[in-house]
Amino acid sequence: MTDRIDHSEELSFDDYDEQLNPKPEENDFDRVLEVALTRRGLLKGVLAVGSVATLGSLSTLVPNEAVAATSRFAFSPIDANTLDDITVPPGYSSQVVAKWGDPLWSDGAEFDHATRGTAASQAVSIGDNIDGMEVFAHGDKTLLVLNNEYTNRKIIWGNRAEGASETDDDVNKGKMAHGLTVVEISKSATGEWGVVKDSPYNRRVTPDTPMEMTGPATGHDLLKTAADPAGTTPLGTWNNCGNGQTPWGTYLACEENFNGYFSAADEDHKVSPELKRYGVSSKDWGYGWAKVDERFDVSKHPTEPNRFGYVVEIDPRNPDAAPKKRSALGRFKHENAELVLNGDGRVVVYMGDDERGEFLYRFVSNGVYAPGGDTDSLLEDGKLYAAKFHDTGAGEWLELTPEATGMASMAEVCVYTRQAASALGATTMDRPEWVSANPTAPEVYCALTNNKNRGIKPNAGGDLTPVGGPNPREKNLYGQVVRWRPNGGDHTSNGFAWDLFVMAGNPKVKNGLEAGSDNVSEANMFNSPDGLKFDSNGLLWIQTDGNYSNEGDFEGHGNNQMLAGDPATGEIRRFLVGPNECEVTGMTWSADKRTMFVGIQHPGERGNSHWPDGGDAVPRSAVIAITRDDGGMMG
Ligand code: FEO
Ligand code: CA
Ligand code: CA
Repeated sequence: MTDRIDHSEELSFDDYDEQLNPKPEENDFDRVLEVALTRRGLLKGVLAVGSVATLGSLSTLVPNEAVAATSRFAFSPIDANTLDDITVPPGYSSQVVAKWGDPLWSDGAEFDHATRGTAASQAVSIGDNIDGMEVFAHGDKTLLVLNNEYTNRKIIWGNRAEGASETDDDVNKGKMAHGLTVVEISKSATGEWGVVKDSPYNRRVTPDTPMEMTGPATGHDLLKTAADPAGTTPLGTWNNCGNGQTPWGTYLACEENFNGYFSAADEDHKVSPELKRYGVSSKDWGYGWAKVDERFDVSKHPTEPNRFGYVVEIDPRNPDAAPKKRSALGRFKHENAELVLNGDGRVVVYMGDDERGEFLYRFVSNGVYAPGGDTDSLLEDGKLYAAKFHDTGAGEWLELTPEATGMASMAEVCVYTRQAASALGATTMDRPEWVSANPTAPEVYCALTNNKNRGIKPNAGGDLTPVGGPNPREKNLYGQVVRWRPNGGDHTSNGFAWDLFVMAGNPKVKNGLEAGSDNVSEANMFNSPDGLKFDSNGLLWIQTDGNYSNEGDFEGHGNNQMLAGDPATGEIRRFLVGPNECEVTGMTWSADKRTMFVGIQHPGERGNSHWPDGGDAVPRSAVIAITRDDGGMMG
């Protein structure tokens, strides 16, 4: 989710939420100052990321081999640029695999650049704003699952004079652009990947697809609605941002900014404080769904928003199966869900809540995974935690229980998860985006994308956001990546040690902390890390969703991009630059690891791109395939 989309002209989702629900200025200056002073000592070590061994307790995190003798990267780094195209290093090639609006069935219409389609054509075509993705090998078939996070109103309704919906069909077209796409893809004899139309696995999951609620919140009064008095069968999913996958072959779609689709016919309607904490208000972000479906009117259906903000498990090999909402994993603005199989077989899921000053979470299953065994309860039955980071470099997971939080039941904890974590004093973070675990070491990384409110304003629950710990910069412009190692290499341990892998910055125009950590230079600088994923070799791929103005504080950063980092040395190299006004988000690999798939989201969100079709074409979110010209491995 970009920080500058057009919900209300130039406002981001977060900014629009803040405008609707203004937060008080932070006033506990003493506390902020105290923590800020403490962090100066900490950062002496953290800044020198490649040689963090100088910093006492943090030295356990990084092998004391500050610089590897030879780089582990197979590619030469590329320069930043502002081209309306994909740029990859010499020896690599990219091609477009699938685009927003490509039909999944042969009787569906091809994308119409003049009208941008209809509700009916969109419902049988690839959704918009591709984000998290995963490839599933199924026999000799390759199934690609894509999140379709949202749609850009001025693009999808660019055929209308005001760039806004004019008819119910327009609204429904926007609605059908959301959700997920499951699409079979195949590689031609000449090596080009493309959509397999009419595959029995092709499927659209939309905001209207029947789903099953599971876990502690199932059937609770908070989930009951007029249409579903049992509170067990919510309808649909939307704003699916990052993703995860399970060892048993299912896909996890994560509901992020679900709030922006609800409104009230009476704009003076006041929502409850519980809804307000999640950004629900009497105004939506311009999508207008309440105009075509009354359940989106919160004055009439105040419990409907409680049925969104979950992780949704989907079986791509079974197109008829109802997706399952996993309430045990908590309700918040889920970014992604990084599932790790612990040494003892328990399932651990790390998750970020992407909003300024919100929290980082962990779920630990009670049961253990056995290949071929029953996996259905693994994401229904377990314990939920929020992270507390100490300035010492230590951290702990705080268990969210009714007793500890003062809530009436686990069901309530799983619906009001933000409030539960606030009650325990979890650490307010700089917008936790993707989390990724290193498959070659017991360590986990999380992108903290940016936070202009750090040290300035509390979060939506009134929790202060003091400067310090893993959030060391006031009004954090550029973002950072935090990592932690669970004590004893055990992901179920409640203790961990943390440090910062990188603080993004701009050494060309800034000094001090804003120049970035030692592994940031004018050659590799970037801002707003968002997508994170380790490849099978233990290299960390970093995707950005940041300021692409290439001016002022961001001079020299160019368009959004993708880089790779070496956890052992801290070295970071730029691998890809995206087209104008895009975000680079979502990645996965073919079964043979010779193709890397990458998502290019919302090119031209401000009207300045014609990628990928060129000419006067409407810009379209797309999946690209990247290969090595020598046919080598991509990860
Ligand atoms: Fe959809 Fe947090 O990005
Ligand atoms: Ca994101
Ligand atoms: Ca983002």
